[in-house]
Amino acid sequence: MMKSFFLSLLVGLLFSKDYVKPTEIDGKKKWKGEGTTPNLESIVIGRCYEYIRIKNCTEIWEAFKKAFINKDPCNILPSDYELFINLALHTIPPNKSLFWENNHLLVTSYSDRTRRYLPLCDTLIGSFGDFLNWCGQANDTGFNYDSCPNTEECENNAVESFWKIASITYAKQSSGVIYVMLNGSAIGGAYPVKGFFADYEVPNFQKDRIARIEIWVMDDIGGPDLDSCGRGSVQILEERLKTMGYDITCIDNYK
Ligand SMILES: *[C@@H]1O[C@H](CO)[C@@H](O)[C@H](O)[C@H]1NC(C)=O
Ligand SMILES: *[C@@H]1O[C@H](CO)[C@@H](O)[C@H](O)[C@H]1NC(C)=O
Ligand SMILES: *[C@@H]1O[C@H](CO)[C@@H](O)[C@H](O)[C@H]1NC(C)=O
Ligand SMILES: *[C@@H]1O[C@H](CO)[C@@H](O)[C@H](O)[C@H]1NC(C)=O
Repeated sequence: MMKSFFLSLLVGLLFSKDYVKPTEIDGKKKWKGEGTTPNLESIVIGRCYEYIRIKNCTEIWEAFKKAFINKDPCNILPSDYELFINLALHTIPPNKSLFWENNHLLVTSYSDRTRRYLPLCDTLIGSFGDFLNWCGQANDTGFNYDSCPNTEECENNAVESFWKIASITYAKQSSGVIYVMLNGSAIGGAYPVKGFFADYEVPNFQKDRIARIEIWVMDDIGGPDLDSCGRGSVQILEERLKTMGYDITCIDNYK
C-alpha cells in the first residue's frame, strides 16, 4: 500500500507540469507541424558564410531569431523579420529572377546547373529558410524542436510569415526579364490562384523595371500534361499579367 503510494507520488511528480516539457501535453505534441530543424543555427550560419563573407552572419542570425523567439508562435508577422531582411538584403541582377510554384527540386537543380538564374531560395535571404523549419514559444528563449504550428493551425506562424516577406522583397527587387517556372503536371493546376506567387509576388512586381515576363510550363518526364500555355490555370495567369500591362511569352517544356 505504502509502496504504491510513493510510486504514484513519484509518477505524479514526474508527470506534473514542471517535469514535462512545456510543448508536450499528455505525451502528445502541441502542434501538428514539424519542429525546428536540428542544428538550425549551424546550418544557417554555415550557408550564410558560404554565401557572403563580407557580412556579419552572427548579426543576421540574431536578427532572424529576434523575429520569433520568445513569442507566441501563432502571432509572428512578416514585419517581425524587417531587421533581418534589411541586414541580409543584396541586389538581384536584372534577368536573373526565377519564380516558381510546385517544382522546388527542379528549380534547385536548374539554377545550380546553369548559374544563369537566382531564384529566391538561392538568395541570402532565402538560404535562411530553404528546406528548413523553425519556431519558438511564448516565455521561452529557446526553439521548439518538438513541433511547430502548420498553416492550417495558424497562418501567422514563423515560417509562413518569413516566406511572405521574403517573397515580397524578392518580387520588388526583380527586374529585366522575369522567368516563371510552373509544373504542368501539378494536380490542381500549374498556377495556383492562391499561393506565394499569386498573392505575394505578382502584386509586388515593379512594372517600370520589368522588360517582359517569360513563363515556362514544365511537365514531369513521363508525367501527365495537365496544363500548358494558353490552357487551364496557365491561361488565367497569362490573362492576369496581360491585364496588368506586361509583355509575356509562354513556352511549353523549356529546355
Ligand atoms: C557581429 O555581430 C555580433 C552580434 O551583433 C557582434 O557581437 C560581433 O562583434 C560582430 N562581429 C564583427 C566582426 O563585427
Ligand atoms: C536582359 O535581357 C534583355 C532582353 O533579352 C537584354 O536586352 C538586356 O541586355 C539584358 N540585361 C542584362 C544586364 O543582361
Ligand atoms: C509536379 O507535380 C507533380 C504532381 O503534384 C509532382 O508529383 C512532381 O514532383 C512535380 N514536379 C516537380 C519537378 O517538382
Ligand atoms: C507569459 O508571461 C506573461 C507575463 O508573465 C503572462 O501574462 C503570459 O500568460 C505567459 N504566457 C504563456 C503562454 O505562458
